[in-house]
Amino acid sequence: MDIKIQGGKSIKGEVETHGAKNCVTKELVASLLTSSECVLENVPDIIDVSLTLDMITALGGKVERKDRSCVVRTSNIKLMKRSEIDSFSGKSRVPILLCGPLLARLGEVFVPSLGGCNIGPRPIDFHINALKSLGAIVEENEDGLYLKADGLMGAKIALDYPSVGATEQVLLSSVLAKGKTVLSNAAVEPEIIDLVSLLQKMGAEISVDTDRQITIVGVEKLHGYRHVAMPDRLEAVSWACAAIATGGEVLVKDARQKDMITFLNKYRQIGGGFEVRDNGIKFWRETDIVKPVFIETDVHPGFMTDWQQPFVVVLTQADGVSIVHETVYENRFGFTETLNKMGAKIQLYRDCLGGMSCRFGQRNYLHSAVIVGRTPLKAGKIVVPDLRAGFSYIIAALIAKGVSQIQNINIIERGYEDFVGKLTSLGVDVCS
Ligand code: EPU
Repeated sequence: MDIKIQGGKSIKGEVETHGAKNCVTKELVASLLTSSECVLENVPDIIDVSLTLDMITALGGKVERKDRSCVVRTSNIKLMKRSEIDSFSGKSRVPILLCGPLLARLGEVFVPSLGGCNIGPRPIDFHINALKSLGAIVEENEDGLYLKADGLMGAKIALDYPSVGATEQVLLSSVLAKGKTVLSNAAVEPEIIDLVSLLQKMGAEISVDTDRQITIVGVEKLHGYRHVAMPDRLEAVSWACAAIATGGEVLVKDARQKDMITFLNKYRQIGGGFEVRDNGIKFWRETDIVKPVFIETDVHPGFMTDWQQPFVVVLTQADGVSIVHETVYENRFGFTETLNKMGAKIQLYRDCLGGMSCRFGQRNYLHSAVIVGRTPLKAGKIVVPDLRAGFSYIIAALIAKGVSQIQNINIIERGYEDFVGKLTSLGVDVCS
């Protein structure tokens, strides 16, 4: 699907944000750990949530959605049919997290090849190694992974890098395992802490210790939950960037300051203004010009890799040279080619520019960017390659004078609820 955006106008108004995509999907998967009823509130209406619910339904679960609430009952679950499994292939990264719950409930699971954003190789070796450590037998073939286990056993697991997905994998697999699991070098993103809180409500015994260590003592049975998912800080940041880039003003309802401290500091440094209110955060441009900055993406509490793309678009409008060093993904600057075609001046480097040397430094990855501003952007035809790059192109189209045609907006709908409606409510002329 395509849309056309008339750029060159400031956006003004308010938008609502709901449960975080990267939390809600995993919290819905957690409902498979119990045969009791689970109720998740603040669920956004996005494609990745619908896909997760379709997977639960295909596994025999019953799902009811009413407004922002989602009630899931999985008292009778079964393995999916091959045709059902294939229908989920390549669409999302959520299926890999079915392993723990399904091994606990059914003793076996087949995981189709994964989808998700096209931002580099995205291996799953940490997941497989962790599952093997917990006692799963894993067979890999070209269609996906087949795993079986006669009950998982707690283990000591150390991640080579604090991976969000692998940490969630260990949590969801060890809560019902026999004995104690000690995970070191774990990710501690707020979305993970939200999942830990939910699992604790279900009766799990989990402690988040100092130095990225998480200890899980397996229990025999978990019960249902009622939980309100944390707000989407990635969506909030996307609108904040749109506000400063267009010299506009946006109140992001329900945005939560404590999850965005690092972003807010950088926002202020480049000339962004914000006011933390009881019902959200209001964002605007405080200074006449946007100021250049140095940014290094990192795991929490660092500057999130998912904030990088919308921020880079803002930096094309900064008065001077900015440097962005991406240390989480080796290949997350592909989207800058289109920005350069629109008039930006962004040069990519293989070196670790500006700060620490990261694990990509000695390898052949273009993972640092120098952005020379300020450059006017030209409207044009834009093809969305992945979710966050997609929203960053929306911001570029808002800045550019003229009409931009944006193709593949369904990719943006994977993680942004009704973003076309929200743009319209902020005064943007959008048509299909
Ligand atoms: N990694 C491995 N092996 C693994 C797992 C990860 O080498 O088995 C590497 C990755 O290649 C990457 C790094 O570890 O270089 C971090 O990856 P991580 O596992 O943390 O990412 P993820 O769990 O696959 C989630 C989000 C991403 C977000 C990252 C980092 C979901 C569905 N996705 O991915 O979100 O960028 O954490 O915060 O939760 C998005 O929403 O657009 C998105 C890409």
